[in-house]
Amino acid sequence: MNTNTKYLGLDLKSPIIVGSCGLTADVDKMVEMEAAGAGAVVVKSIFEEQIIHDIKRNTHMVAPTDSYGDSYEYIAQHVADDSLNKHFAMIKEAKSRLTIPVIGSINCFSYENWLTYAIRFQEAGCDALELNMAILPYETSLSSDDVERTFTQIINTLRKSVSIPISIKVGTYFTDMAKQMQQLSWMGIQGVTMFNKSVQVDIDIENETLKNASFLSNPDELHNTLRWVAILSKKMRCDISASTGVYSADDVVKLLLAGANSVQVVSCLYKNGVDALREMNDGLCQWMERKGYESIDRFRGKLAVQPNDKASVAMRTQFMKYFADIV
Ligand SMILES: Cc1cc2nc3c(=O)[nH]c(=O)nc-3n(C[C@H](O)[C@H](O)[C@H](O)COP(=O)(O)O)c2cc1C
Repeated sequence: MNTNTKYLGLDLKSPIIVGSCGLTADVDKMVEMEAAGAGAVVVKSIFEEQIIHDIKRNTHMVAPTDSYGDSYEYIAQHVADDSLNKHFAMIKEAKSRLTIPVIGSINCFSYENWLTYAIRFQEAGCDALELNMAILPYETSLSSDDVERTFTQIINTLRKSVSIPISIKVGTYFTDMAKQMQQLSWMGIQGVTMFNKSVQVDIDIENETLKNASFLSNPDELHNTLRWVAILSKKMRCDISASTGVYSADDVVKLLLAGANSVQVVSCLYKNGVDALREMNDGLCQWMERKGYESIDRFRGKLAVQPNDKASVAMRTQFMKYFADIV
C-alpha cells in the first residue's frame, strides 16, 4: 500500500511524524523510529533558556558585573557554543544515519537568536525547520497585535535568511484562531503544526506550591486538533501537521480526512513505545485497502470544510445533531 505523501515539499514514506520531544534527542531512538515506519522526525527543540541555564551553571565563579567582565563574556560565549555544538553534532549524526527527513526545532525569546540558530540548523543539514512559537499570552500588557507582530517579525527575517522549508508550531491561545492561522499561511511559510501542548499547571496542596501536571496528552485531546484541521485545511495556503492527542491508526485516518498533510505523535510513543508507529502505519494501510484507496491524495481532505463554506454553519450543524440525538 502506498502511504507516500508530501509535507513541506519533502517526500515522506508515511504521513506519521515523530514530534519534537526527549525521544528525538537520541539518534539511536530515531533510527528505531525510522525502522518502525516514522515518516520524519522533528528533533528535540533547542531552547534559548536551556543555553542560558548552561551559561549560568558554568559561570558561577565569575559574575557579569565583577572586574572579570571580559572573562565572563568569554566563558559565557564558550559555554553557549559548546551547548549548541553538541546539539548540531547530534543533528549531523541523525542526518548521516537516517534516510527520512530530519526537521530541526527552535524555541527562542530573543529576536537575534531565532536568526542565529536557524542559520546553524540549516548548516547542520536539517531538511526543514519547525519554529516552536506557541506563545502563551500570560501578560495583561500583551495584546493580540503584539503576538501577531512577533510572528511577522520572526517569520519575515527567517524567510530571508534560510532557504530550507519553515513551519510554525502554534498553541491554541488565539481569540481569532481561524483568521490568525490563515494569515500565517499567507506569509510564505511552508507549514503550520497545530498544536503544541503547553505544560499544564497543578498545585501541591500539602506543600502549597505550584507544580507541573502530566506532560503527556490523552486521546480525548484529538478532538480539538481535528476540529481546527477540518475547519482550516482548505482555507490555508500551506501544509498542516496535526499534533496533540494522536494515539491510533483511526486518529491518523481522521486527521487525513480532515485535510492534514502529516500528523505528529509524541505522548503515544512515551506510553506505548516506538512499536506504536508500526501499528499506526499497518492500521492506515489496512483501512486504505478496505476502502479501495490507492494513495493518501485520494481521500485527504474529503471531510474538510470547503473553501467557500462557512465553518460556523458546519460546526453548528454538528451541534444541532447532538441535540437531535439526545431528544
Ligand atoms: C516529554 C515531552 C517533551 C517535549 N519537548 C518538546 C520540545 O522540545 N519542543 C516542542 O516543540 N514540543 C515538545 N513537546 C510537545 C510535543 O512535541 C507535542 O506537541 C505535544 O506533546 C502534543 O502531542 P502528543 O499529544 O502527541 O503528545 C514535548 C512533549 C513531551 C511530552
